[in-house]
Amino acid sequence: MAHLTGQERARYVTRMFARISRRYDLLNTVMTGGRHYAWRKRATGMAVEGLSGPALDIATGTGDFAFDLARRPEVTDVVGLDFTRDMLKLANVKASRQELSRHTTFTAGDAHALPFKDEQFICATVGFGIRNFIDLPTALQEMVRVVRPGGRVVSLEIVRMEGRGPMPKLLPLHFRYVTPWLGSLLAGDREAYTYLPKSVENFLSATEIDHAMSDAGLVNVRHKKLGLGTVAIHIAEKP
Ligand SMILES: C[S@@+](CC[C@H](N)C(=O)[O-])C[C@H]1O[C@@H](n2cnc3c(N)ncnc32)[C@H](O)[C@@H]1O
Repeated sequence: MAHLTGQERARYVTRMFARISRRYDLLNTVMTGGRHYAWRKRATGMAVEGLSGPALDIATGTGDFAFDLARRPEVTDVVGLDFTRDMLKLANVKASRQELSRHTTFTAGDAHALPFKDEQFICATVGFGIRNFIDLPTALQEMVRVVRPGGRVVSLEIVRMEGRGPMPKLLPLHFRYVTPWLGSLLAGDREAYTYLPKSVENFLSATEIDHAMSDAGLVNVRHKKLGLGTVAIHIAEKP
C-alpha cells in the first residue's frame, strides 16, 4: 500500500469494500463478539445529546451508524455518505427493512470533498472510517465545515494501542494472524482482512487522533477507549 498514490489507494479501498460488502456485517459481528452495535449506539448518544436537527454519517458503509442516528429523537433526518456504491446498495435495503427510509438518505461521495453546504448538520459521525482516509486532516476539516457551531464531530475507530503492558503486544498479534484467517473463512477474501490489521498497525493512537482533531479546529476533544483499548470513540465540538 505504501507505494500507491493517494488515488490508487482510494481505488484499492473502494474495490476491496465492494468485494466484501455482502459479508461485511457478519465479519464485524464475529470479530467484535457483537460489540460493534453497542459501540455505535454509545457514540451516537454522545454525538447528538442536547442537540436537534439533521445528522451526517460519513463512510457509512452498510448504514448501521446512520440507522442509530435516525432512531434518536434529537435527529430529524440523516444523510449517509460513502464512496463504495455496493455498500450503499445494502444500506438502502437495510433502511427499508428497518422502516427507516423516510429519515435516511444514502449518497455517494468522498469524505475529502463533502457535497454539502457549510454548517448544515448538528453532527458528523464516522464509524471505522478515518483509518481508510488518504488525507485525514482534509477529511476532518470537511467534517468541521459542514457541522454547525456548537455541533459535534465523532469518530469510532480501531486505534494503534499505546502503553507498555502485555495487551499492546498481544492484541496486534491476534489481529495480524486471526483476522486474515476469519476473512478467508467467512468472506472468502484473505487479502481484504490482511489489509485490516496492517491499516491499524500503520494508523494513529487515540492520543494522536486527539491531536488531529484539535489541529482541525475542534475544541473540547476527548476520547473513550473500548474493547480492551483496541477501539476508541473520539468526540469534539465545533466552536
Ligand atoms: C470499515 S467500513 C465502515 C462502515 C460503517 N461506517 C460501519 O460503522 O460499519 C469503511 C467504509 O468507509 C468507506 N470509505 C473509505 N474511504 C472513504 C472516503 N474517502 N470517502 C467515502 N467513503 C469512504 C468505505 O467505502 C467503507 O464503506
